[in-house]
Amino acid sequence: REGLQTTLIGQSIVYRDTIDSTNTLAQQLALNGAPEGTVVIADEQTSGRGRRGRQWFSPPHSGIWMSLILRPELPLAHAAQITLVAAVALCQALSRATGVKAGIKWPNDILFDGKKCCGILTEMHAEFDQIHHLVVGIGINVNVPQEDFPDELQDIATSLQAIRGERLPRAQVVRTVLEEFEPLYRQYVANGGFGTLRDAWKANNITLGNRIVAHTARGDIEGKALDIDEFGVLLLEKDNGEREKIYSADITVFT
Ligand code: BTN
Repeated sequence: REGLQTTLIGQSIVYRDTIDSTNTLAQQLALNGAPEGTVVIADEQTSGRGRRGRQWFSPPHSGIWMSLILRPELPLAHAAQITLVAAVALCQALSRATGVKAGIKWPNDILFDGKKCCGILTEMHAEFDQIHHLVVGIGINVNVPQEDFPDELQDIATSLQAIRGERLPRAQVVRTVLEEFEPLYRQYVANGGFGTLRDAWKANNITLGNRIVAHTARGDIEGKALDIDEFGVLLLEKDNGEREKIYSADITVFT
């Protein structure tokens, strides 16, 4: 809390030493009326959750495992765009707080040298087609020595400590993330979506202009990543010149 320069995000903070998942607790608190901007943060998660049912490695004393409760008055169709907003905030915060210049792999993985140092898991609750609340879960591998990652993560995960070669103060990184997120979130709400943040997303991305494979529910689609639209949808050009919109996928980027 100390020195936090925000007026909304982090005005209420719920801290736990150990928890199953900050996203799960945040969901419960949100359903029980926790105010917008509440931040749930834990030192350790025993079942940290990743996208697509994966687990998120969340050892004690080493990372930032937190979830933000948001209540934007927007149609449900705009909910998914919040993860792109959070990705921009994370990149800007890492750069400001630690000097690490990480990049966004569409839609919202934060990578350094091809390895993931932060992940975002957004969960939403709707009432009819309006957003009731969003929980934006943010995981940042801060002081995880590279050798502490499990074998299966060695080639795909990294930490700020591994990148910088020194341990970093987690409190300062948290503060900076919340401070970078707040004005971007206000823009997202004021403009009814991600549209005006598209240039900021592009400035931090490592996807556009590269060859990619999009692993979609319909199978793999390969081509060049051309652009994202104001909804955060990825535009891909296949080798035969056909263009496809990718709404949801995991992607592999060839650089
Ligand atoms: C991903 O890249 O797959 C998303 C990872 C999100 C991890 C964070 S850590 C805090 C919050 N609580 C969870 O259980 N998951 C998110």
